[in-house]
This record gives sequence, C-alpha cells and structure tokens, in this order.
Amino acid sequence: MTQRLIIDQNMAAMPDKTSHQEVSPYDTLFSSIIGQDYYLLKQISPFAAEMSRLVGLSVAKFCAQNFAPVSVVELGGGTGITSLAILSADERLTLLSIDNEPIMQNQAKQSLQQWVDNGRLNFSDQDALSALRSLSANSVDVIASAYTLHNFEAHYRKQVLNEIFRVLKPSGQFINGDRYALDDVSAHTLSTQNEVAGYFKVLISLNRLDVLEHWIIHLFNDESENHIMREALALEQLSEVGFKQINLSHRLEVNALVTAVKE
Ligand SMILES: C[S@@+](CC[C@H](N)C(=O)[O-])C[C@H]1O[C@@H](n2cnc3c(N)ncnc32)[C@H](O)[C@@H]1O
Repeated sequence: MTQRLIIDQNMAAMPDKTSHQEVSPYDTLFSSIIGQDYYLLKQISPFAAEMSRLVGLSVAKFCAQNFAPVSVVELGGGTGITSLAILSADERLTLLSIDNEPIMQNQAKQSLQQWVDNGRLNFSDQDALSALRSLSANSVDVIASAYTLHNFEAHYRKQVLNEIFRVLKPSGQFINGDRYALDDVSAHTLSTQNEVAGYFKVLISLNRLDVLEHWIIHLFNDESENHIMREALALEQLSEVGFKQINLSHRLEVNALVTAVKE
C-alpha cells in the first residue's frame, strides 16, 4: 500500500482514473523522464513517427475533398510531432490540440509557436474527455490522434469515442494512428517482445537506462487488461458508437491506422 496514493476529489475528474479511487504513482505516464526525453521514441519506435505521417496524409486527403477550410481537433498532441503533420496537411486548416500533460504540451507550444501566431493553432490543457464535452455537437470536421487512445483506461476510452462521434459534423472523420493490439494474442506477444528487445538495444547503447526503465513500466500499462486496445473490439466499439466506413490499414506490427466516418 505504500506505493499507492489515494486521489482526492479534484483528481476524480481526471482522465484514465474515473473508475478508480486509487491510482498508481506510475499513472503519471508522460510527466517525467518519458515526457522530457520523448524525442528518443523516434529511435526506439520508428513506427511512431510513421503513424504521425500517415495521420497527416489522411487529414490531407480529407481536406482535398472539402472546399471549405477544415477544423481539426487533435487528442493528445504531446510534443507536437503529429500536430505538425496535421498542420502541414493543408495550409487552410485550423487545429485545436488537446493534451493534459504540460511537460509534453509545453514542448509543442515552443516548436509550433509560428502556427499559433498566424491563427491556425490553439491549445487546450484539459483532458480529452473534458475538452470534447466542452465542444458543441456537429461542430468539427476531423478528430485526429496518434498514440493517445491506447493509453486510456477502457471505460474512459468508450466515453471519449461517444464524444468524438457527437462532436464531429456529419461526414466528419475520425483518424487515429495508434497501438491496435493484434487479435492473435500469441502474435501480439511476440511482436511486443521484439519491441522490448529493440528498447534494450537502443537505450543501452545510448546509456539511457533511466528512459528504458520508464518505457518498460509504461508498456505494462499499455498491455494491461483494462487498457489494451485490441483490434476487433476497437473496431466494434466504433461501429456501436455509430461510425461507418470503418477501416484499419497500414498495419506495422502492433501499430495501425484507423479511419471512420460519421455519415
Ligand atoms: C504517446 S504521446 C503521443 C504524442 C503524439 N501524438 C505523438 O505521436 O508523438 C500521448 C499523449 O497523450 C497525452 N494524453 C494521455 N492521456 C490523455 C488524456 N486523457 N487527455 C489528454 N491527453 C492525454 C499524453 O500527455 C501524451 O502527450
């Protein structure tokens, strides 16, 4: 029990903890070394950068099919890697980037200041569910994200999906590049084991055992039963919420791009 903290009433509204009265000290996933040294992810997981690029390409495709300037909301903007891919997709689009971890978002604020200055980028420091709840129904063209939803506790994620559907305009699109666990559990385990081996190889050679420790701890969170976002169930949930044209593509090991339309 010494390693567990009791959360107070204010924190009960925080993401990922809505169904718990207790929270592990490791739940502050992006607030410490991972957040400070997030750039190392590119080296330990090259697929992560690729997924942000694919999210950007999907947004570009959506913009090409729409005459009016497109409004995009991004969930979990982090240090701005995906935000930049989205902003580069079309020079007319506007982006609201949501992230409730200042260590991550402050890096994005620094590197993307020029887009703030020319009025195309705004930030929200709320958690994804609260931020979505504050938006009007049928008000946004695209809700995009990379490597954020898999971090959510399952019940919280379900509520977020409902809100995404509510907030999107008819014909609006949900675009998510993320960890979608393989339905074949053995194949998923093997792929994750290879991923972990890669973490060790890269981070030991960089002498960053501190970062290695935190990513391994983080991975236990991703793989836990109340977080893991398994492909079949994830697609089924999108359908239950009301989405059509649900498509999973570009599978790269445990990562994939998912798009869905609110018809
Ligand atoms: C792995 S990072 C992804 C950042 C970026 N999209 C990328 O691909 O590099 C996930 C981000 O989601 C944010 N995040 C996690 N849970 C969140 C929540 N409930 N609401 C808002 N942001 C959240 C974290 O703070 C973190 O910055």
